[in-house]
Amino acid sequence: MNGNLGVNEPQGPYGPTEHIVGGAPEGAGAALRGDVGERVVLGEVRGRNYNPVNVRNRFEAIDHVGQRRATRNVREALSWQATRSHAGGHNRPRSLSTHGSAIGLGRAVLSRVAPGVPRSILVTGGAGFIGRWVVLRLLADGHRVLVLDSLVAGSRANLSEAEGHAGYLGLIEADVCDTSAVAEAFSRAPDLCLHLAASINVQDSINHPSETFRSDVQGTFVVLEAARARSTPVLFMSTCMVYAAGDDPISERHPTRPASPYAACKLAGEALTLSYWHAYGLPTCVVRPFNTFGPYQRTNGEGGVVAIFVRRALEGGSLDVFGSGVQTRDLLYVEDCAAFVTAAALSGAGWGRILNAGTGRDSPIAELARLIAGPDGIVRHVPHIHPQSEIYKLRCDSRQAEALLGWRPEVSLEEGIARTRAWIVSHAGS
Ligand SMILES: NC(=O)c1ccc[n+]([C@@H]2O[C@H](COP(=O)([O-])OP(=O)(O)OC[C@H]3O[C@@H](n4cnc5c(N)ncnc54)[C@H](O)[C@@H]3O)[C@@H](O)[C@H]2O)c1
Repeated sequence: MNGNLGVNEPQGPYGPTEHIVGGAPEGAGAALRGDVGERVVLGEVRGRNYNPVNVRNRFEAIDHVGQRRATRNVREALSWQATRSHAGGHNRPRSLSTHGSAIGLGRAVLSRVAPGVPRSILVTGGAGFIGRWVVLRLLADGHRVLVLDSLVAGSRANLSEAEGHAGYLGLIEADVCDTSAVAEAFSRAPDLCLHLAASINVQDSINHPSETFRSDVQGTFVVLEAARARSTPVLFMSTCMVYAAGDDPISERHPTRPASPYAACKLAGEALTLSYWHAYGLPTCVVRPFNTFGPYQRTNGEGGVVAIFVRRALEGGSLDVFGSGVQTRDLLYVEDCAAFVTAAALSGAGWGRILNAGTGRDSPIAELARLIAGPDGIVRHVPHIHPQSEIYKLRCDSRQAEALLGWRPEVSLEEGIARTRAWIVSHAGS
């Protein structure tokens, strides 16, 4: 038992333990100052405020001073620290006797996702609406990106911009439940997986829950097993739709309520994902973006509310609001969402955690319709198809993402609507 942390704590990977210094990151403690590559004894820093942000800073410090050839020990020691740090949080306890292999696994795999280092990254669902923005963001940051997508809802056209990048490794057109295709994808992009592929339509999940279960739960299991075989860290894309309505901003501690099979399947996927962290030490992270909108979202009934409303308004049709329209949504612009998702996956600060992302501002759907329709547009109230599954108030508390990732949304609702409108106009008929 470690007296400082109060948890069963493993010894480090290199005995009582060397730690290699990559700079003097804030809050890491004087015991960690020194030249890059210098070894210090881990025991000196026990009990200090050692958090994953410091680990990230340290990687950056290594990169900054051009010490990318720092020994494998550097990364492994830092990685082990990250694992240890998380194990001391709400995910404790781990003891070496029962979780030794898990610690070893976490140590090895965390070294693959040091910020600033180009990685081979698999994005499932990368041909979808959010996925294509995530793919582009990773490519712009210098990573190599492979997409696995069945194209059941996504399209090759969504990836046309990615095809111009040298780092784009292509599309494997396959279902996430296809074990061999998923294994092949992990063999080609083994450093990190962002798992976005999912059957996302709430109404469909109520009408035909088996497909949602197959894609979202079974598919997630297939992805996690392939990740475990390759020791690949995984980010699981969940959603705000898992939450119960809340009058106050919704933090990650807010109660969940599976109001639809879609939400239930996401909660199951979350639990599976975090179980791989607890049981195997595989770095996994769950993110819950709030309702996301922007260019490339489908504008038919399967799309999001903003895209549907904008298209209807451009066509001069009515904007149909379910019920009274007092139900609210916190609408996150898609590039802000992509920035959040990639930061959560690459920083290392999200492992073993659930992280929200939203704007903190919610809009009643009736007001949103009026904003998009303008004074002359037609807004109709129609009966809700599945009122029992409506969530009446969703407003995000993103403070954890801000604290851990330094992430904040940058695009306002009005600006996001304007960009969405411009995109729909420019793609009309395509
Ligand atoms: N759109 C939102 O408001 C929102 C908000 C929070 C979270 N999310 C989550 O973000 C992710 C992406 O959502 P999106 O809005 O981009 O949806 P989308 O439907 O545009 O993207 C999903 C992608 O997954 C693919 N896919 C679906 N089932 C598959 C399967 N069985 N095998 C392989 N590929 C499959 C689709 O072809 C599509 O390209 C989903 O996990 C969704 O639950 C979406």
